[in-house]
Amino acid sequence: MSFAFGIGIGTQNNQGEWLEVFYQQPVMTPDNTLLEVVQNILGYQGGNQGISASSEQLSQLATALRQTGQNNQAALADKAAESTRPVVVTVLETDDTASSTPEVYLKLHLISHRMAKPHGLKLDGIFGLLPNLAWTNEGAVDLNELPERQLQARLEGRTLEVKSVDKFPQMTDYVVPKGVRIADTARVRLGAYVGEGTTVMHEGFINFNAGTEGTSMIEGRISAGVMVGKGSDLGGGCSTMGTLSGGGNIIIAVGENCLIGANAGIGIPLGDRCKVEAGLYITAGTKVALLDDNNELVEVIKARDLANQPDLLFRRNSQTGAVECKTNKSAIELNEELHANN
Ligand SMILES: CC(C)(COP(=O)(O)OP(=O)(O)OC[C@H]1O[C@@H](n2cnc3c(N)ncnc32)[C@H](O)[C@@H]1OP(=O)(O)O)[C@@H](O)C(=O)NCCC(=O)NCCS
Repeated sequence: MSFAFGIGIGTQNNQGEWLEVFYQQPVMTPDNTLLEVVQNILGYQGGNQGISASSEQLSQLATALRQTGQNNQAALADKAAESTRPVVVTVLETDDTASSTPEVYLKLHLISHRMAKPHGLKLDGIFGLLPNLAWTNEGAVDLNELPERQLQARLEGRTLEVKSVDKFPQMTDYVVPKGVRIADTARVRLGAYVGEGTTVMHEGFINFNAGTEGTSMIEGRISAGVMVGKGSDLGGGCSTMGTLSGGGNIIIAVGENCLIGANAGIGIPLGDRCKVEAGLYITAGTKVALLDDNNELVEVIKARDLANQPDLLFRRNSQTGAVECKTNKSAIELNEELHANN
């Protein structure tokens, strides 16, 4: 049993280097018959590999896959045989650190297809394997080749629209998972895990290797590595602290049924049913006055000591400026109507 498999249609630059790959139907833990077929037809020798496949090889692959009852993959191979774009057949025997662009793309697809969870795959070293590209209305373009492509388009009376310049494409050009609303698709990167029932409004953002477990209203930023529990609401412009830059090393998460208020932010993982007042940014070292039910001071502790604790309400006292923490007695209930049309 291997780790993952995918037949991908991709883009290469003029040097024949892979820029990006689209896997319509990636497979998790493919069975051995599928791999034997790839071995016989494409000379797969084991390990993790993206193998370029010719039209003839893809037709042979389709026939062999059909004979072994792998009808969906056979149909895909048949279509890929007709492709005018380069095709790659990628096999990951293990979840080891990726060594090629097609391998990284397969891993990002697995997360966005909800076949693997954020933090469930080894993604170290992927930045070096993801070229920074111009994502245009005519697909991915190598930045060195962009001026020529822009000129060519103009000469032919078209405009080449560059929608972004980035290492990651927007998720929805590759995967649209079931039961989600995404108001501005550019704000969710491939490799995001968008749980069923999630609404991402225009201000919302979801990075790769991050996302939502289920029903959520996302109007703030879910940084790389951050997972948001079911029923939680990220208010407009709020922020979850990432670990990719700035020296932060605590992995931030949001529990179930939490509310992070508008323009608020968290630098600690929140337990279930927590609320953070609009505009309050709690960092790990923030000194917090813990209050009892009568608003009497119990003790002053650092926010990191409250990490993962459930039922807390954080607010900045509007009279003293001190950050306070009380027990949150009214866990939020998401507005059912907002999610009814997913
Ligand atoms: C922090 C928050 C959750 C508190 O809301 P709440 O639990 O409904 O509390 P209330 O506003 O009813 O206030 C309860 C009491 O605490 C007091 N209080 C509230 N916030 C306070 C603050 N920052 N400092 C001092 N007192 C405060 C109130 O004055 C009130 O006092 P009272 O008992 O004397 O009447 C709320 O202010 C908030 O920030 N919600 C986020 C909403 C949001 O951003 N949603 C996303 C939209 S995109």
